Amino acid sequence: MKTLIIFAHPKLDSFNGAILEAIIDELKVLQSEIRVRDLYRIGFQPVLHEDNYSEFYQTKIPADILEEQSYLLWAEQIIFIFPTWWSGMPAILKGYIDRVFSNGFAFRMIKNGTEGLLKGKKGLIIQTTGQPEQKLKPSQLTMAMETAMDYGIFQICGIDTVSHQFLYGVTLSDHATKQRMLREIRDIIQLL
Ligand SMILES: Cc1cc2nc3c(=O)[nH]c(=O)nc-3n(C[C@H](O)[C@H](O)[C@H](O)COP(=O)(O)O)c2cc1C
Repeated sequence: MKTLIIFAHPKLDSFNGAILEAIIDELKVLQSEIRVRDLYRIGFQPVLHEDNYSEFYQTKIPADILEEQSYLLWAEQIIFIFPTWWSGMPAILKGYIDRVFSNGFAFRMIKNGTEGLLKGKKGLIIQTTGQPEQKLKPSQLTMAMETAMDYGIFQICGIDTVSHQFLYGVTLSDHATKQRMLREIRDIIQLL
């Protein structure tokens, strides 16, 4: 299976970095073909500026975006790994979606709304949080983040979200708890 990993954390030496490493290990066992787009390390420019605004409406797609789109076209499954920042994704990842998931590439406008153009691709989302589950769930924040990403982005583009995994309370977790979380992620990859 051709797997594209979109990684959005400023530090490789972080729990998110450990997730990336664990996922790559498991994918290698499965003999998956892997491409990683590590948005900080490639210096991805996330801001949709005025001079590129028309790219969203498909006039002229810049070279850096064409390259990212070619990775998406290649992939059969796409894995996003990122920490929760202010009840959403880090700005660099939001900017990646703003710029790369452009109109005419990821979706198109039709009479009754939109049609996804990335149909047939599977999506897996791994999202860490600082807050524990008991804080986020009752305040509906988990649901809000799931809805925004799984439906507001992936479904609109035709990507089938196979799983959106929250790893809660990472900041306060001890080593053993983090190891258990990494094992859970490894199991999920084996079941993909
Ligand atoms: C700018 C910023 C905003 C954050 N906002 C939230 C938040 O809204 N909710 C939450 O649960 N954790 C929040 N956190 C905590 C991170 O989600 C947490 O540190 C991360 O998931 C832990 O993974 P890491 O060790 O790989 O960084 C925030 C952290 C930063 C740096």
